[in-house]
Amino acid sequence: MPKRRQATSITATALALALLPLAPGAAGEADLTLRDSAPQGFHIGSSVAGGGHLDAEDHPDPFTHDKAYTALLGQEFDSLTPENRMKWSELRPSEDTYDFSLADRIVEFAARKDQEVRGHALLWHQQNPDWLEEGDYSEQELRQILHEHVTTVVGRYKGRIHQWDVGNELIDDDSRLRTEENIWLRELGPEVISDVFRWAHAADPEAELFLNDYSIEDVNDKSDAYLDLVRELLADGVPVHGLSVQAHLTPAAGYPESMEENLDRFGDLGLRTALSEVDVRVETSGEGDGGTEEQLSEQADFYARALQACLNADSCTSFTVWGYTDRYSWIPSTFPGKGAGAIMDDDLKPKPAYGALRETLRSSG
Ligand code: XIL
Repeated sequence: MPKRRQATSITATALALALLPLAPGAAGEADLTLRDSAPQGFHIGSSVAGGGHLDAEDHPDPFTHDKAYTALLGQEFDSLTPENRMKWSELRPSEDTYDFSLADRIVEFAARKDQEVRGHALLWHQQNPDWLEEGDYSEQELRQILHEHVTTVVGRYKGRIHQWDVGNELIDDDSRLRTEENIWLRELGPEVISDVFRWAHAADPEAELFLNDYSIEDVNDKSDAYLDLVRELLADGVPVHGLSVQAHLTPAAGYPESMEENLDRFGDLGLRTALSEVDVRVETSGEGDGGTEEQLSEQADFYARALQACLNADSCTSFTVWGYTDRYSWIPSTFPGKGAGAIMDDDLKPKPAYGALRETLRSSG
């Protein structure tokens, strides 16, 4: 359903309001959560922390152990994406087995909280199990393994996963298909992309099937390459329904000014779009440095502008943050010298970016 739209730019008042400190306990609209502030038909999401980089850190699984963390996930968001729990490395301990335990918990929680789920991810060059990457399989066997995985995983969550990131990061920084790094493209050829979309569609005809990548916020060579890929897939009748832009942003790289125009050109092809992994990392001096006031205000501005671009684009119906809290963020361990990229701090307290998102949602609703 298309969302209602009114505002086309962030007003000065909205930003000023956003930067005011929150007044906890004060009655009225200041108490609204993000999900309650969103216009009808628009989803505001978060990834669900667990696995991946957190395995190397010193705390138990956030989603199943950190009650305050999980409570806010339910209150603030109406869409969830498992950060790692639906990746091959997590679901497939061996060729013959599946472990759905933690993925199931997320999907069940989402149903209780009336949230949508974005499934992530089916065809990727990272976080694949060693038995797969290092196994000695024939082309036919690999095809069979992939077909069985997609059919089993998408089929298991039929009707409960709204959108799937089917192809993840299929194109590299030189705007070419990852025909070496990605085991599936390398061993089975680029035609496998169409197959996987078709298999996923057969397993759940209602699920919206996406391509997802980073550095495609702007109109640029890489997003041009996606435009070509999407056109080809559509011309072949492949059930591709959406393009999601990760949006791992940083002021150091500048704001991607042509985001709305870019989303629109995919919308014009009939695709749905989404911002799927938004965060805004800043330079920090190490653990415990939550960023200066100036950094956090610039960060709030980036978050609000990205959200506004999505709200403005008719095709863009969800905005998902990649970790709503700095407590569990993947940024410090992935980008040395960077951190504090989330909308809540280590103590789960809202940062200026939280208020900026809420005001942007409210002023467009
Ligand atoms: C990241 C997770 O956040 C980490 O926990 C993990 O160690 C590595 O992957 N693009 C994607 C996501 O599509 O799956 C990645 O998530 C971040 C970049």
